[in-house]
Amino acid sequence: MEIIKTVVIGAGTMGNGITHVMAQSGFSVTMVDVSREALDRGMGIINKNLARMVSKEKITENSKNETLGRITTATDLDEAVKDADLVVEAVNENFELKEKIFRQLDLNAPAGCILASNTSSISITKLGAVTGRAGRVIGMHFFNPVPVMKLVEVVRGLDTLDEVNDAVVEMSKKLGKEPVPVNDYPGFVSNRVLMPMINEAIFCVHEGVGTPENIDNVMKLGMAHPMGPLRLADFIGLDVCLDILNVLYEGFRDPKYRPCPLLVKMVDAGKLGDKTGQGFYTTA
Ligand SMILES: NC(=O)c1ccc[n+]([C@@H]2O[C@H](COP(=O)([O-])OP(=O)(O)OC[C@H]3O[C@@H](n4cnc5c(N)ncnc54)[C@H](O)[C@@H]3O)[C@@H](O)[C@H]2O)c1
Repeated sequence: MEIIKTVVIGAGTMGNGITHVMAQSGFSVTMVDVSREALDRGMGIINKNLARMVSKEKITENSKNETLGRITTATDLDEAVKDADLVVEAVNENFELKEKIFRQLDLNAPAGCILASNTSSISITKLGAVTGRAGRVIGMHFFNPVPVMKLVEVVRGLDTLDEVNDAVVEMSKKLGKEPVPVNDYPGFVSNRVLMPMINEAIFCVHEGVGTPENIDNVMKLGMAHPMGPLRLADFIGLDVCLDILNVLYEGFRDPKYRPCPLLVKMVDAGKLGDKTGQGFYTTA
């Protein structure tokens, strides 16, 4: 199936990044948000990132303008999706909110349209089940910052059709990404492997095994990780790490995913990492 018209829902960190790569790859894309301010902010970020690419001579001024010309913005979701081939949902990580949007998409998008979610941890099978087209629902998990990171984790729900999986793999390649197909289980592959490592690093701080700097240096210098797990946790957001660990813990009912009490305490204290300036490191 050919994908021509795309819609991205959410103009935040991920939504504006996904819109950027789609438009730069030649797709016409409508970015939808409930908030006009969020759309303006998202467009501002896309503009700034494209301008930086021009100044580094990675793209021309002309190609920047062509990319911007392929993007429209909208606040009316039902209208925006009525001729879409692919919708990528990137609203806040909240099941009730995503469920409502998927029901709405099912009612308003054409029958053949693929409904993808950029969720980090919500079950694709569960999102598919609230629609009448579970076969056309799939995870398209991009990584932050989207224009830079190569991976798209393509997540198949229990009922996702082969042709939909294949179309999303092809689409991801057209976006210059490297798609990796995985099946839908809590945390997919990325967070199922990453979060226990981050949690264990936090347990090492909690038990006084090492300082955050020393723990990160062990992983950087000994395991060739570009960034230590605690620095990465601050970057992702400690609240987001805790939410994902809880998804793993509840999803598998296995104590090996139990969030470290120090992580819980830091989130309770509002020390959420880079976004608040305080986490395992102080950035503000
Ligand atoms: N930030 C990351 O590093 C990252 C990485 C991978 C995946 N994700 C996932 O991507 C999704 C989005 O995360 P984010 O960091 O971009 O969030 P964000 O908070 O930056 O942006 C969310 C946007 O969704 C908009 N929104 C809320 N309700 C809406 C609705 N009903 N219709 C349209 N827009 C609506 C908000 O106004 C906001 O602009 C989440 O599911 C998250 O788990 C995030």
